[in-house]
Amino acid sequence: MMKIVGFMGSPRKNGNTAVLLQQVMEGAKKEGAECTVHYLNDLKIRGCQGCNACKSKGYCVIPDDMQNIYQTINEADVLVFSSPVYMWEMTAQLKLVVDRLYAYLNADYSSRLAKPIKFALLFTQHRAVEDAFMPYFESVAGILKVIGFEFVPEILVGSGLHDAGEVKSNDALMEKAYKLGRKLSLK
Ligand SMILES: Cc1cc2nc3c(=O)[nH]c(=O)nc-3n(C[C@H](O)[C@H](O)[C@H](O)COP(=O)(O)O)c2cc1C
Repeated sequence: MMKIVGFMGSPRKNGNTAVLLQQVMEGAKKEGAECTVHYLNDLKIRGCQGCNACKSKGYCVIPDDMQNIYQTINEADVLVFSSPVYMWEMTAQLKLVVDRLYAYLNADYSSRLAKPIKFALLFTQHRAVEDAFMPYFESVAGILKVIGFEFVPEILVGSGLHDAGEVKSNDALMEKAYKLGRKLSLK
């Protein structure tokens, strides 16, 4: 059974990112995948301290909620990183997790991931121009590839969104998210 893990980077639990990520998970469940979503805003995750202990020890030594996330990543087949665009970038909540993925790099920047893990990206934004932030999204995909994750490649963008949950009335986007979930759960 495929294990799909979603990281929800918006503080709004009923927001557009949450709705679309949930929709991805519904599609994945339809194909029999086991799905878990982490609401990052609820977790206590410190920023990377740059102590480099991970380079000598092989794991991150900060004793916080990221330890549980490392565990679920190690057991996952597919990761979905999701965030609203805040100030042209991902939210600080998601960035904390991305920085802490540094622990998966050896001192020579080779990856120490033990098995192939795929990933897809999901962003929502107010800007109506769908590809307005695409170079940034591709840059995020780039660093996740350096960490050792395998890009599907899928970047789902919900554009022109403002009010929490308004994406629910956008049938095309909801369908796209559902289909992405189904696709991700196929080997
Ligand atoms: C602090 C903040 C910064 C934002 N910055 C941007 C931005 O740079 N570009 C953009 O298109 N939308 C921006 N937005 C709008 C959100 O990306 C948009 O409303 C999104 O759908 C919110 O997702 P959510 O409902 O999952 O919280 C910003 C919203 C907030 C609260």
